[in-house]
Amino acid sequence: MAFTLPDLPFAKDALGDYMSAETLDYHHGKHHKAYVDKTNGMVGEKGLEGVSLIEVVRAAKEKGDKGLFNNSAQIWNHSFYWQCLAAPQGQRPTGRLAEMIDDAFGSTDQLLAKLKEEAVGHFSNGWAWLVLDRDSLKITSLHDADTPLVYEGMRPLLTLDVWEHAYYIDYRNARPDFAEKVLGNIVNWEFVAQNLDGNGESRANQG
Ligand code: FE2
Repeated sequence: MAFTLPDLPFAKDALGDYMSAETLDYHHGKHHKAYVDKTNGMVGEKGLEGVSLIEVVRAAKEKGDKGLFNNSAQIWNHSFYWQCLAAPQGQRPTGRLAEMIDDAFGSTDQLLAKLKEEAVGHFSNGWAWLVLDRDSLKITSLHDADTPLVYEGMRPLLTLDVWEHAYYIDYRNARPDFAEKVLGNIVNWEFVAQNLDGNGESRANQG
């Protein structure tokens, strides 16, 4: 079965000025869709039909197949990213997640400042991540299409796409502004908290 472009988990205008419908039209409707189409065009030739998305990503990594890795990992990364976003309602981390954040970073504001720093400091294309590294919260960034799926013990909690296509329509070249506005206002902290069960990767899987 071919991979599909998952629907956005919110209305296209739900994120207001923080992320416009036009950005979503391009980023989800064109960029994410292109990764799906390219991956579907490759899996048949490589004898990987019927294999789950995560297994395709890992097989491509193992074989050093950069084209398939980049495209399939980007399907998963974007499918995870959309779920990390939600309409702005003054949301903040709560419960166990808030406690873990306070223990690891001092406060939610400090976590957000560190994530922004990582996002802004990552050279060129990539993704800023909050992950569970074994049992600790950790901030990191990965380049191009690279993904926590291929790192032992790294379980995804939250990501921010810092490819230029993620912010250029709404923020032009101002990546710091994009990171601050998105992280401070439209993160789906309920999704992030859910991922503390260690099963975040399955939530963006398919096939
Ligand atoms: Fe992207």
